[in-house]
Amino acid sequence: MNHGTDQDAALFELAEAALRNAHAPYSGFHVGAALRSDSGALHSGCNVESAAYPLTTCAERAAITAAVRAEGSRVRIVRLVVLARGRDGQLLPATPCGGCRQLLSEFGAGLELVFHDPEGKLRCMPIGELLPLAFGLPDPG
Ligand code: THU
Repeated sequence: MNHGTDQDAALFELAEAALRNAHAPYSGFHVGAALRSDSGALHSGCNVESAAYPLTTCAERAAITAAVRAEGSRVRIVRLVVLARGRDGQLLPATPCGGCRQLLSEFGAGLELVFHDPEGKLRCMPIGELLPLAFGLPDPG
């Protein structure tokens, strides 16, 4: 796994900073995501919960929105780090949810995700392994 590079250190730092601003009063599950785009730029996001639960936004989705806002819709995501902490600040496993996997796959076919798996082990996996046979619309041609 390509972890421990300067680039990854910066992504971990950004994800941690984003997580500190998470708005998660209902779940107590604070999530931060940071990504590197194909231009080399870094973008981040945190989860924002709503009292109307389905309106909640995941950290990964927020990071993608930030990347599109800054670089336009042709932006490609190369690598994304996601971190989660509980109310007590303890590091928790967080694999990206199904909806985020779909959106991530649409912004980077070769994208690599770095996260803590359910056993708490730091893992790096390509999106194609996390979401095989991802849905895509036919090319309009
Ligand atoms: N959450 C994320 O931010 N990313 C994920 O991939 C999974 C879940 C957030 C949504 C909600 O605020 C909290 O974690 C609990 O589901």
